[in-house]
Amino acid sequence: MSATGSAYRRGPFREGDRVQLTDPKGRMHTITLTPGKQFHTHRGHVKHDDLIGEPDGSTVTNTAGTQYLVLRPLLSDYVMSMPRGAAVVYPKDAGQVIQMADVFPGASVVEAGVGSGALSMSLLRAVGDTGRVHSFERREDFATIARANAHAFFGEDHPAWTVTVGDLVESLPDAVEPGSVDRVVLDMLAPWECLEVVADALAPGGVLICYVATATQLSKVGEAMRDFGTFTEPQAWESLVRGWHLEGLAVRPQHRMHGHTGFLISTRRLAPGVTPPPRKRRPGRGYAAQEEAADEEASKGTDVTAAEAPPGTDDAEWTSEALGERVASAKRMRKLARGVVPPSPR
Ligand SMILES: C[S@@+](CC[C@H](N)C(=O)[O-])C[C@H]1O[C@@H](n2cnc3c(N)ncnc32)[C@H](O)[C@@H]1O
Repeated sequence: MSATGSAYRRGPFREGDRVQLTDPKGRMHTITLTPGKQFHTHRGHVKHDDLIGEPDGSTVTNTAGTQYLVLRPLLSDYVMSMPRGAAVVYPKDAGQVIQMADVFPGASVVEAGVGSGALSMSLLRAVGDTGRVHSFERREDFATIARANAHAFFGEDHPAWTVTVGDLVESLPDAVEPGSVDRVVLDMLAPWECLEVVADALAPGGVLICYVATATQLSKVGEAMRDFGTFTEPQAWESLVRGWHLEGLAVRPQHRMHGHTGFLISTRRLAPGVTPPPRKRRPGRGYAAQEEAADEEASKGTDVTAAEAPPGTDDAEWTSEALGERVASAKRMRKLARGVVPPSPR
């Protein structure tokens, strides 16, 4: 038997599939393939029937001659375009959660809150059909949107998922056996309020990871984890992903990026009765030696011999235009020059 949702991710396009159409300007439209229906823009239309039966990664041309690339959306595309009740965890952070919390196939995971269900879907993918994701959400309306989003993505209700509408602190103790949960993921305003129920639910060695939007929340939950006493020293980080513009010689970071999404902080549950060893925070004796070794490596330099002339070897190729820089036109420069006030003589 194939894993839940996998049948909808491969093979030719079928009735009911969600597909993403990208036009030559990069604009995306998501449609659900329905026999007899048409996808209209202000310029022309495409018949859904022309797509049903075609392989993933096809192109289609509408009645006005515009060509579209047609692909099934990846989970990372889907979460960014699905209906949202609350802000979603972005794919870059969801990837970090899965990796750094070590969410494994068959794991038992508790999550709160569900919001729009973006992170839940990544967790479900990671635990698979034999795992368990028990998600808690205070707001019934958000839980309804999240269930619908996950159903549309997996094509059916995921067998590993249970959603409980209610506050985590009140609902968790009745929902799981103490010490039975492998991983807990919290994305909420006040995760520090949940530490006691989370500590009771987690198995020894289990991971708690929290996603918070502000440095003040990060500080508060980090201190609360330390004060609680049954968790390891918390680790905190953020991840920045910077896309690159890749065109000819204009190979550089993109001008726009998501400068901030959130911070992650993780810790592990100690065995019952164990308290973390006291921390000593003096710089180690090896530090100076490491610094010296790094300086020595840097002073050696790197010997790079080009096998053949790479693009851009010729100085004449290095123009502002080739590097994708915006160059003011001669007309604009004349206008700017007219506006410049000459410095008064001293
Ligand atoms: C930012 S959203 C979560 C987004 C979600 N991780 C996603 O990727 O779509 C935060 C959610 O936590 C819920 N929440 C806050 N505190 C909670 C609690 N103690 N128990 C259950 N849900 C809670 C809120 O109602 C809200 O929907």
